[in-house]
Amino acid sequence: MRTTLVLNAKGGSGKTTIATNLAGYFAAAGQSVVLQDYDAQGSAMDWLAQRTFQMSQIHGQEHYKAGSQYMTRAWQFRLPAHTDHVIIDTPAAVELQKHVTMIRSADRILVPVSPSAIEIRATLTFIAELQDFIKLYNCQAALAVVANKVDLKSQAYILMQQKFRAVNVEFIANLSMHESYYVAAETGVSIFEINHPLLARDQHEWEPLVSWIEGKQIETDLPASKLYAVAD
Ligand SMILES: Nc1ncnc2c1ncn2[C@@H]1O[C@H](COP(=O)(O)OP(=O)(O)O)[C@@H](O)[C@H]1O
Ligand SMILES: [Mg+2]
Repeated sequence: MRTTLVLNAKGGSGKTTIATNLAGYFAAAGQSVVLQDYDAQGSAMDWLAQRTFQMSQIHGQEHYKAGSQYMTRAWQFRLPAHTDHVIIDTPAAVELQKHVTMIRSADRILVPVSPSAIEIRATLTFIAELQDFIKLYNCQAALAVVANKVDLKSQAYILMQQKFRAVNVEFIANLSMHESYYVAAETGVSIFEINHPLLARDQHEWEPLVSWIEGKQIETDLPASKLYAVAD
């Protein structure tokens, strides 16, 4: 079983988009997926509620809700047998100290960030805090940044890569800005469950991220254009 935690101090960076699309990806691939929502806004659970019976099943857990007086939280949130993937969506401004057990359970921590100066600065501060936390609590998780809503040719994107490399954080994938993410969020699907030729590039952009979660080797010394770009 692999546990992937999606985390960033900033709202709107793409945490729920990444958590729900990963859940949809693994479920559509026939794996058993649990999607845990720690955000009181419940966006990941709203997404899950839109899914129909014909779609691959994803087991949702509303961790933001108060526990029942009739059962312990451990029992309420026990994982179904044979769970392959646990994907955790979190709120903005998450207090790390309040979630030590949850963070320590993660194999992978993904920090989505979009190329805006304000978001990059805030995320660099958050990553420093997270790196200290990982050391202090001896967490096993590997940490990586996902560039979200990017224009691969933009100067902002190139500068962003340099800034994260300078603090030794792996830059694992680039996800372009595409309206399919909006459509997917509204309808309870992942972009992998929409069969449209125009989505091939966007689906392809997730490959290094999925490989990283699955622990497969990824070639990182190729230029980004070769790794992620697909012919139009
Ligand atoms: N790559 C993308 N392309 C287009 N829209 C995106 C992309 N990623 C996220 N969005 C949109 O940006 C908004 C914020 O994303 P969301 O995942 O809810 O952020 P967070 O959970 O970090 O607050 C949503 O409306 C979502 O549909
Ligand atoms: Mg969210």
